[in-house]
Amino acid sequence: MRDDVLSGDSLNDEVEPIELRPKTLKEYIGQDHVKEMMSIFIKAAKQRHEALDHVLLYGPPGLGKTTLANIVANEVGANIKISSGPSIEKSGDLAVLLTSLEAGDILFIDEIHRLPRVVEEVLYPAMEDFAIDLIVGKEETQKSIRVDLPPFTLIGATTRYGDLTGPLRDRFGVVHKLEYYDADALKTICSRTAAIYGADMDDKSKAELAKRSRGTPRIVNRLFRRVRDFADVLNEGVIDLPITKKALDKLQIDELGLDQKDYDYLNGLIEKFGGGPVGVESLASSISEEVTTIEDVYEPFLLKLGFVKRTPRGRMATEHAYKHLKKPFQGGLFE
Ligand code: ADE
Repeated sequence: MRDDVLSGDSLNDEVEPIELRPKTLKEYIGQDHVKEMMSIFIKAAKQRHEALDHVLLYGPPGLGKTTLANIVANEVGANIKISSGPSIEKSGDLAVLLTSLEAGDILFIDEIHRLPRVVEEVLYPAMEDFAIDLIVGKEETQKSIRVDLPPFTLIGATTRYGDLTGPLRDRFGVVHKLEYYDADALKTICSRTAAIYGADMDDKSKAELAKRSRGTPRIVNRLFRRVRDFADVLNEGVIDLPITKKALDKLQIDELGLDQKDYDYLNGLIEKFGGGPVGVESLASSISEEVTTIEDVYEPFLLKLGFVKRTPRGRMATEHAYKHLKKPFQGGLFE
C-alpha cells in the first residue's frame, strides 16, 4: 500500500494545522444544512447503538471534508482510520484496513473516486453486509472465504462526484455536497483563527481576507498566516487594513481572490484561444497545468464567478472575465 499519497500528489496535500481544526460540530463554522443533518443522524445512531450509515461528502478542495470526517468520529466517540483512493492499490490493502476496524469505527477514504475498480468491488459487500470475501490458497486449492467485519461507517470524500461509479454512489446512505462559504462565514473563521493565534486583527482586515479567500476556509487560514507574517515583520504584529491589503497584493491575490494560476488560465483562454471554445486538454497544456487540477481546483470557482462557461464545444470566457481582466473584446461578441 502506498503511504505517501496523502502528502504527495493528492489535491488535498495541504493539511490544516492541528490547532485550527474544529473538534465538534458546534465549533465548525458554515455548512449549516450539512451540520444540522449530520447532528440528527449521529444522535439517532447513538440512540440505537448502531454504526452511523455510510457518508459521502463531495465538493471542491479545502471546504472541510476531512475536518468534518474527524468531527463525526469525535462526535460518535469512535476511532478514525484515514486513507485515500490512490493509496489503496490492491484488494489486500483494503482488507487490512477493514479487518483492523472495531465496531462503530470510521474509515475515511479521501479521493474515493480514485479507488481501483478491483478494490471497489471488495468495498461493496463490506459496506452492505459488513463482510468481505477473501481469496486464500494457490491455484487448484484456491477458495473464497467470507470474513465478517464489525459494523463500521465509511466516510468517502471526493472532488468529483460524477466520477464515482453508480454502484458505489448507491451504497452511501448519507450524501452531502459542501458549498463554497459566504463572506460572513469566512470572516467568522478568520476571527476564530486570529483568536487561536492570539493575533491582533481588526474587523475590516478580517472582512478583506474573507473577501479574497475564494469561499474556502483552508485559503482563509493560509492567507491569514501570510498576512500575520507581514504584520509581524513590518507592522509590529498589528493586522490592520493597509498591511492586509499590502500582503495580499504582494501575494498576487486580487480583490476577488483570484491568484496567478487563475490569471494564467483566463489569459491563456482569452489570448491563446480567442476566448474559446477550447478543449480543456489544449488549455491545460498551453499553461503547463494538469487537467485534473484545472477541473477540480480552478474551474469550480471561475464557474461560480461566472467567468467561464463549459459548453459542448469546450471552455469559453464570459464577458465578466474580459471585463475583470480589462481585456478588449469586439462589440457584439456576447450578444
Ligand atoms: N468550517 C470549515 N472549516 C473550518 C475551520 N477550519 N475552522 C472552523 N470552521 C470551519
